[in-house]
Amino acid sequence: MIYKRTHMCGELRSANIGENVVLNGWIRKRRNLGGLIFCDLRDKTGISQIVFNDEIPVEIFERADTLRSEYVVGVRGRVVERESKNTDMATGDVEIIADDLIIYSTSETPPIYIRDDDNADDNLRLKYRYLDLRKKKMQDNLTFRAKLTTLARNYYAECGFTEVETPMLIKSTPEGARDYLVPSRVNPGSFYALPQSPQTFKQLLMVGGTDRYFQIAKCFRDEDLRADRQPEFTQIDLEMSFADADDVIEIQEGFLKKVMKEMKGEDIETPFPRLTWQEAMTRYGSDKPDTRFGFELQDITDMVRDCGFRVFTDAIAAGGSVRAICIDGAAEVYTRKKIDKLTEAVKSYGAKGMVWMKLTREGISSSVNKFFKPEELADIAQGLSAKEGDLILIISDSNKVVFDSLGFLRRHIAGELGLLDDESFNFLWVVDFPLFEYDENEDRWSAMHHPFTSPKEEHAELLKTDPHSCLANAYDIVLNGVELGGGSIRIHDREMQEDMFKALNMKQEEIDEKFGFLVEAFRYGAPPHAGLAYGLDRLVMLLTGEKSIREVIAFPKNQNAQCMVSEAPGTVDEHQLEELGIELRK
Ligand code: AMO
Repeated sequence: MIYKRTHMCGELRSANIGENVVLNGWIRKRRNLGGLIFCDLRDKTGISQIVFNDEIPVEIFERADTLRSEYVVGVRGRVVERESKNTDMATGDVEIIADDLIIYSTSETPPIYIRDDDNADDNLRLKYRYLDLRKKKMQDNLTFRAKLTTLARNYYAECGFTEVETPMLIKSTPEGARDYLVPSRVNPGSFYALPQSPQTFKQLLMVGGTDRYFQIAKCFRDEDLRADRQPEFTQIDLEMSFADADDVIEIQEGFLKKVMKEMKGEDIETPFPRLTWQEAMTRYGSDKPDTRFGFELQDITDMVRDCGFRVFTDAIAAGGSVRAICIDGAAEVYTRKKIDKLTEAVKSYGAKGMVWMKLTREGISSSVNKFFKPEELADIAQGLSAKEGDLILIISDSNKVVFDSLGFLRRHIAGELGLLDDESFNFLWVVDFPLFEYDENEDRWSAMHHPFTSPKEEHAELLKTDPHSCLANAYDIVLNGVELGGGSIRIHDREMQEDMFKALNMKQEEIDEKFGFLVEAFRYGAPPHAGLAYGLDRLVMLLTGEKSIREVIAFPKNQNAQCMVSEAPGTVDEHQLEELGIELRK
């Protein structure tokens, strides 16, 4: 039998006093004080205190005495005012004097505490995710996410977008990351790929006349994991026909304004600031700048061009630059030991070293004291508008290394100084990205967004003559230093699409083999179209103040891309492999 509940555990208030109620839930804890047994009963909405006293039949009292943490029970009783109120609990004014109890199921001692502040090891939390999910915070995150997806569905539907599902088993069309492959049984030796995004299909939907497409889409990318990256994640994905960048951006600003109002109760101002990629890099050293704090990059190349200090002059001679950030009032906080740690950290961005200067009452102390005259250091400090108490950090190298290192330092230090306010939301657009970027590791050019992004209209001709200097008609939406989403005006012309592939060094056969279907579709009347995709997990993470998208995904993968609950990936039967015509290498 199941008790039909009248209320959720977190709902009861003084107004319910005197009511007979039925609650179902999990026992959080039980205390037996002789003639009285107190239990906390929990469900996703909160906790109610239940009291079993000796006025109830003895078998019910005895049953209550067997209750342990995480038993699942139904309780019937009357709501009364509590003698000692608990102001920390939403239901703390009342308690329920029980008159009946059903135990639906018992529980062994759980391997993790069901408490928001339980600091259990991540892998243990993921292995027992079904217990971890019982935490209020986790249920709140899931509910928040569900509300946000409903809001997105309603908003885009109101804007005339049609929700369309696109296939999960597709052809491998590399978009930047590695594909997850699925072998085909009926076509031995052939593989599907799981989509890295619905990109090509949403474009085909535009050719198909769908006009405005929307989808909450699962995407799969076999890439190294980070706090904001999972091998499978979800996009809010959309595409519009006959739209330019301003049309796409305006609809997104309307969406984010609504999200902030309805999910956070905040009125945010639109339009959001727009920074060109160049400006984002030179001011913040990042294409996803966090503008909640200052410490902007300053170019001191001209100031030190003739300084004679080889570390600077060699970098300049090699076509690089010398740039600095000035951290207000941080000279004292940053001891030598802490600065050494920063120097070590920038090495992973390719920097060979870092120059520091501290402006103290006694003068300027610096890692390069012996290479510069005091007045030269003072000139640099003055050029940076630094004042007493400030810390200056300087990197000289190729522009990429300088930007990456200073971009990292600025945000890392802001974090260490406690300047990253989770409740302040700085949205901005980054536009005018380069169309291509050079991949040093692979020694080749690749598309900065994806190969379906069009060059800016005025650079259309350049795509034939000097493709790598083209700017892209692309835009990223950035929130607090995180790339929330990205999109672009697409190429809808067959010839331009082929030029694009050729600029990526693809041979005609390769183009035909990988993207022939898309190029062919463009032969039959493709509307100009544009779109964008948000990382839904990232949006929910930022709005709930979480530090990792794992906290907002019900069953995420761990650092090694494993599902700890089901232990995927796993081995398969020999028979299954045989059917697929696959033999494993020993
Ligand atoms: P892009 O590759 O920029 O664009 O992806 C869009 C957004 O998806 C999120 N994202 C991720 N989130 C979690 N884990 C990951 N591994 C991961 N990778 C990406 C980011 C990112 O901004 N088809 C294009 C969009 C378009 O042009 O319309 C695309 O997928 O928030």
